[in-house]
Amino acid sequence: MNNINIRPYKTEDRVHLRMLCCDVADRGAPIENIFPDRDLAADLLTTYYTDYESRSTFVAECDGNLVGYINGCMDNRRYGLVMFWLLYPSLFLKGFIRGVFFRRETLQMIAGMLKNWRRIFVWRKKSFSSHQGHLHIGITKDARRHQAGQKLLKALIEYAKELGVGELEASVHDGNKAAGSFFESQGFEVRERYPMVMIRDGREEYYNSLLYVKTIKAH
Ligand SMILES: CC(C)(COP(=O)(O)OP(=O)(O)OC[C@H]1O[C@@H](n2cnc3c(N)ncnc32)[C@H](O)[C@@H]1OP(=O)(O)O)[C@@H](O)C(=O)NCCC(=O)NCCS
Repeated sequence: MNNINIRPYKTEDRVHLRMLCCDVADRGAPIENIFPDRDLAADLLTTYYTDYESRSTFVAECDGNLVGYINGCMDNRRYGLVMFWLLYPSLFLKGFIRGVFFRRETLQMIAGMLKNWRRIFVWRKKSFSSHQGHLHIGITKDARRHQAGQKLLKALIEYAKELGVGELEASVHDGNKAAGSFFESQGFEVRERYPMVMIRDGREEYYNSLLYVKTIKAH
């Protein structure tokens, strides 16, 4: 896989990017392992980046197929405001109409999420009031270890430098060893870690969420 091309996101990529994001959302495996509604998950995970800040997204293509993406945000505070006031209310309504909140696994998941109060109400609040950036990255299984990830990151960092963003953050499940090695190889350091709970197969899974941070040096 030597012919991987990195380019800025285009509107035509939206459907493919949403699918790819859900294919890798559970530490590189499909979202259905942890959440039953793919469309709603795609809304939650990608809409801010594709519809409100699409210039900070880059994609990796191979033979005309999308094999990777990096969703960037250059202002965490703006992200927090858009998510809280626009996207969460509309997604809550959509989930309600689709009956997602009447499903046992969703209710279990919400109960699990509420146990993560410290991260949500302390760290996220702090993070959302910063004007630094963050990112999410995903590569298809077949295209991993072919440098698509590092090329996408390089494109995003160049863009962040142009805008004068000083730091980029990425949250990683501590069981996601590939992602941890990836971010460390690219100069990120773990700044904070938070105990978290998620529901997998009806059971609580305890893990640490690692906040990886890279300082961006201006040109
Ligand atoms: C993490 C991920 C983005 C890495 O992308 P990638 O294109 O495979 O990574 P690259 O080929 O650019 O690798 C760059 C370096 O990262 C490290 N690395 C990447 N994958 C690794 C793995 N599975 N194990 C150990 N080190 C790894 C290596 O140091 C590698 O350099 P090398 O190949 O010269 O040894 C990819 O595995 C992925 O999409 N995972 C699923 C989604 C995910 O977990 N996203 C992160 C959460 S935001």
